Amino acid sequence: LLAGPDGRPLTGRSAVVTAGPTFEPIDPVRGLTNRSSGKQGYAIAAALAELGAKVTLVSGPVALSVPAGVERVWVETAREMQAAVEAALPADVAVMSAAVADWRVDGVASGKIKKAPGGPPSLALIENPDILAAVSAPGPKRPGLVIGFAAETADLEANARAKLSRKGCDWIVGNDVSGEVFGADANAVTLFTRDGGAEAWPRQSKAEVARKLAVRIADHIG
Ligand code: CTP
Ligand code: CA
Repeated sequence: LLAGPDGRPLTGRSAVVTAGPTFEPIDPVRGLTNRSSGKQGYAIAAALAELGAKVTLVSGPVALSVPAGVERVWVETAREMQAAVEAALPADVAVMSAAVADWRVDGVASGKIKKAPGGPPSLALIENPDILAAVSAPGPKRPGLVIGFAAETADLEANARAKLSRKGCDWIVGNDVSGEVFGADANAVTLFTRDGGAEAWPRQSKAEVARKLAVRIADHIG
């Protein structure tokens, strides 16, 4: 680990981190969202900042305060998240930990939809942009290191490896969400790398997972 001028390995480096869910409106009072407390992503933003990085944290709606030394950009929808991530580029590293809603409602109602005797409304869904895949695409603004997450309830390794190649990112943090993960303070993850590497980290606090990942990032790009 090379130390920067102030002794911190990521001084002079920049990072963009996504965290939390996105919220896709149905009408002014309802929406579609994903389960995510944002804790793991916020902890990663904090850990990168502690190592000296300039961190932009693009956050969906969560009940967490901004970590010290981190700039937070608050978003609701996947498309807002994508725009905020693009505005934060170029960056040396991107960590996409957000639980992005895969679909949004086509034709959001401008007024509250009322219950009617005819039964529930049907929702037409359209696919949201894949922010991780877009950031991973080759180009002058591609960060040198792009890290995605894969939250899976089964076949973690196969799903994580498939995402690694489909999205074109460099590392995937695989997360087994069949147990107690959502909202919890601890997490068990496996780090999958493009070169075929897989490293399982024992269940530990989300803060510890974040510090470990930040040190790995510093080793790689610092
Ligand atoms: N991701 C993203 N934009 C999306 C969907 C996902 O940036 N529209 C990112 C997530 O932040 C995460 C990674 O892609 O880092 C994997 O997300 P996941 O939901 O597991 O992958 P999907 O491709 O959406 O596959 P599925 O939900 O069908 O498992
Ligand atoms: Ca998804």
